[in-house]
Amino acid sequence: MSTRPRILVTQKVPAPAYAPLEEIGTVDAHMEEGSIWPYEELLGHGPGHDYIFCLLTDTIDERFLQACAASNQRLKLIANMAVGYNNIDVAAATRLGIAVTNTPGVLSDTTADLAFGLLLATARRIPEAERYLRAGKYEGWGPLLFCGAEVHHATLGLIGAGRIGQIMARRASGFDMRVLYYNRSRLAPELEAAYNLTYAELDEVLKQADFLSIHAPYTPQTHHLIGERELTLMKPTAILLNTARGPLVDEKALVKALQNGSIAGAGLDVFEREPAVEPELLTMEQVVIVPHIGSASLQTRTLMATMASSNIVAHYRGQRPPNILNP
Ligand code: DGY
Repeated sequence: MSTRPRILVTQKVPAPAYAPLEEIGTVDAHMEEGSIWPYEELLGHGPGHDYIFCLLTDTIDERFLQACAASNQRLKLIANMAVGYNNIDVAAATRLGIAVTNTPGVLSDTTADLAFGLLLATARRIPEAERYLRAGKYEGWGPLLFCGAEVHHATLGLIGAGRIGQIMARRASGFDMRVLYYNRSRLAPELEAAYNLTYAELDEVLKQADFLSIHAPYTPQTHHLIGERELTLMKPTAILLNTARGPLVDEKALVKALQNGSIAGAGLDVFEREPAVEPELLTMEQVVIVPHIGSASLQTRTLMATMASSNIVAHYRGQRPPNILNP
């Protein structure tokens, strides 16, 4: 009987990720472009594999893990091709002796680029103005045509100041912005100085921000971190940006806040019930909305994919996978 491990790759990923896996094992790859297995189908494919290379759209819950771990089902490691891992029940995996890894660091710049792009696009009403132009409505320069919000010298509020939040602060310094941040724990003074960050309590950040950008992980504790109360505290001219995880924001409360003018706009890359989006958001001119593309450059996605493969290979070779998440 072959001792080569069986490796499942649940979606088509950048090509360089496959060779290191094929070198060590037999790869079962789901290669249909853009196809995501629904949960029950994923459950049908998982058992019998030693390693699973998965994506943030795969729900790896206790039921799935138990099915893959039961007696001779062999699962040793789940490699998530994402920095966020709220799709995986890490506690259940740990109980079952299954390692879990993610892909931190390699997507931080790319995600901050998108967050800053959404900030500019929403503030300066770029998609709205483009729609107007393409619709043939432009009849000449106008003193009040598409006047938006100033970005330079404005205050950026960061919710979360980890890797991506810190890079967002660096982007903001190029626009001479003041940057306030709220984080679970305050950063060391050297880091605050290096990124020109000023710490404030959550409510203070909410009250002072012209732009509020979320860069926190999604956990049961951060569910609806931004809800009706928080949105009410924000300036009526403020713009909310979310490139982290949808359920950090109460999407229904956000719709209400935009409808009643509690805040002025939103730039959203992620949604509470992805891929579904609150239908009202799609009709609002002051909302810039994109389909979870924060890390979507081919270079970055390739780095994420090869990093996920490296975690599997390291485990296979008896080394500690570099990006292990289990405590
Ligand atoms: C992640 O990695 O968690 C992002 O949401 C997708 O790039």
